Parts: sequence; C-alpha cells; structure tokens
Amino acid sequence: MSHNRITRRDLLISSASAMATSAIVPRALAASSQNPGSEDADRIRRMKWWHDARFGMFIHWGLYSVLGRHEWVMENEGIPVAEYEQLAQLFQPKPNAARDWARLARAAGQKYMVMTTKHHEGFCNFDTKLTDYCAPKQGPGRDLVREFVDAARAEGLRVGFYYSLMDWHHPDGARCATDESARKRFVAYTHGLIRELMTNYGKIDILWYDVDWPLTPAQWESEQMNRMVFELQPDIIVNNRNGVPGDFSTPEQEITAEKSGRAWETCMTLNDSWGYQRADDNWKTSRQVVRNLIDCVRDGGNYLLNIGPRPDGSIPEESVRTLTEVGQWLRRNGESVYQSDLCQPRQSTYAGFTRKGNTLYMHVYFWPGDYVAIAGLQSRVKSSRFLATGQKIDFQQDRFRVRFTGLPAAAPDIPVTTIAIECESEPIQDTLFVRNQRPRNGL
Ligand code: GLC
Repeated sequence: MSHNRITRRDLLISSASAMATSAIVPRALAASSQNPGSEDADRIRRMKWWHDARFGMFIHWGLYSVLGRHEWVMENEGIPVAEYEQLAQLFQPKPNAARDWARLARAAGQKYMVMTTKHHEGFCNFDTKLTDYCAPKQGPGRDLVREFVDAARAEGLRVGFYYSLMDWHHPDGARCATDESARKRFVAYTHGLIRELMTNYGKIDILWYDVDWPLTPAQWESEQMNRMVFELQPDIIVNNRNGVPGDFSTPEQEITAEKSGRAWETCMTLNDSWGYQRADDNWKTSRQVVRNLIDCVRDGGNYLLNIGPRPDGSIPEESVRTLTEVGQWLRRNGESVYQSDLCQPRQSTYAGFTRKGNTLYMHVYFWPGDYVAIAGLQSRVKSSRFLATGQKIDFQQDRFRVRFTGLPAAAPDIPVTTIAIECESEPIQDTLFVRNQRPRNGL
C-alpha cells in the first residue's frame, strides 16, 4: 500500500523555484525547432536516429596496434617515419575481425560504430588511389574499412568514420602550415581522401573528424569540406573537430553537457588508451560504464565508448566482458536510456537519474538497503516499480521526501538497480526548497 501524502497545494507552493530551474534546462531538439530555419529543420531530421541511439562503439585500430603502446606511440617515442612505416607490412589482421566487433556492439546495446579510417599516423585503413600507405597495398592486403562497414550493416548498426586531419606521415603534413604550395597539395589530398570515403562505401551515417593541427579552418577549407560531404551524403552528421561547428560537440574523457541545446557526445576509453596498449590494465567496471551512460543520457548527450583491438583484430577480454555486462543490463533497463528526454533531477549520493515523459528512472548504483529516498521531488508520484522485473514498490511521499520502502537488503539488479517512478507531471527536483523550507526544531 502506498501512502501518497503530498497535496496539490504543497506542489504549487514549492513549484516556483523549481520552474526557474527547469526553464534553464537545455532542450536539444526543442531549442532548434522553435526557430525552424531550413538548416535547423534539416539538422533535426538528420540527427533524430542519433539522439535516440545514445550509445555507440568507437574503434581505434591501425599500425600502432602492432606495437601495442598507445596510438600516439609514433610521436611520443619520436619514431622516425621510415622506421614506423615498416609496421605497415607487419599489420596482418585476421579476415573480417570487424564482425566480432559488430556482434559485441549489438550485444552491448550500442546502436552505432565509429572506426578510425586514418589516425594521426597517416596510414589509411581503406583503399585509396591517393597513397600506397593503405591497407590493401600493405600487410592487410585488403580494405579494412569495407569489412567494417559490411560488419556494422550486417548487425543493423549505423556506420561512422573517424578521420584525423593531422597527419604525421605525409610529407606536407607539417610544412603545410608555412608553405602555401604544400598547404594546397595537402588540402587537396585531405579533401580527396574524404571524398573517397564518402563515395565508395554507400551510406555513411557519421563523419568524425579529429585534430585539425596545424591549419586554421579557413586553411583546411573546412566549410567547403563539409559542403562536399553533405553533397555526397545528404543524411550524414559531422562533428566539430575540423574547426567548424558541424552538428555536434565532442567532449573527450569527460561528461560535460553543451549549452543552449547543442548536441554533444562524450567519447571515452575503457582503460586509459584509445589504441591497443598491452600493459594498460586500468579498466573501467561495467558499473562505471553504466553510470557514465546514465549521466550522458540525463543531460541529453550520447556516449561513444572505445575499444582498441589487438593487431589481429581480436578484442581484449576485459572489454568484451564489460561491454557484455553493460548489454545485459541494457536489455533489462534500456527503456530508461534509449529515446529518453532531458532530465532535471540529479541530486543523490547513491543514484543517477534519467527521464522519459513523466517517468523518472532512479538508477541506484550504491544500494543502501531496505529503502531509498529522493529529496525535493516536486511532482506527485503515482506508482513505482523495478524496471528490470516490473515488480511494484511501495512509496511514501511528503513535500520534502519520497521514500521507496520494503526493498531487499541486497541490490536486486547488477551493476545498477533501476526504479521506474511514474509521476503526475514532469519530474523536477528542488533540494534548495528542502533546505529552506523544512521545519526546523529549537529556538
Ligand atoms: C584525441 C587523440 C586521439 C584520439 C581522440 C579520440 O584527439 O589525439 O588519439 O583518437 O582524441 O577522441
């Protein structure tokens, strides 16, 4: 039996400051649809699937994987170009390694994949007419990007290409900053490679630029670059790392929401390295990953989580285990993640929150025991249940607190237990109201 003691009047009294809080909450899609210029309308159309998807797989794979000491190894160890180039013959992955990545991504509940087509080292994982420093003409003997695209599509996943503008291998890659004819050559090369990527692989869903050193956006001709990309791929979305805003921002290794409703995606490693780093054992747990995903989703962002396959294409076991656990959790609790809305409540020392319509999802990652509570929830609770099982949960609510009671001593779900809380209106939390208004004893 639930004792729902909060009154409508209580809610009205306490709602003024909460309204002020909710008014500043960015609303990713709503903000741009208020002024639906044709560019905004087109962006909303192109980005719909991505906003719903929430969770993607990043893959860093290249010659650096052979050394197994991080994708920056060439620069960080000062390896000469001629010495590094020899890795191109040693890179001999097993056929169709990407199939296992795609199966894992699907099992993990990830809806899209973004693979390095060319990282800073300059080696192209794809077939190109513009350089011999590419997979089909070197050790792999075939087009690794083609295999990736086919594998992602076979699992029904969206396809993204990472592309590094910075190039440590190309002769013009550094001198383009000071030599105009080198710049012209290098920009033609860069635009040419991107043109091939946008032409030869069918529909591509994301172009994920990286590091625009050493040129300015004007020198890269980034506006023209994007124009070409959209001409070739009218449905694609692009990030902001070619120096112009594109469609979304890319906070790296941190979860920081964009202001004013701009779309954003946090990219993050599972240990401390993007490319395969043999000795890096600083693995995140599935609980950390779920918490990060929840925090991204709460604030309207996406989460792009990286794997760094070994040179043969196999995935480190720790990554497989963690992603599999996350996927199992998402199968039970995915309703709270995919296609969810911005969520204002956030104050708890043992739970995170997400929201869909009037339903608040409380994700308890440190299970406190036989009850859990939320302070300052301004909306009246109608019902609550464990999301994983549907089992009803008792609750009591007053103006300051809602308590969910009669719970088991040990966490019912791993790595995080989610309680779905159906409210009468959009759930808003105001803990300042609690601090100010709670009756105090004494003098
Ligand atoms: C940085 C790093 C790079 C990595 C990328 C992922 O730009 O230089 O190695 O690919 O971030 O976001």
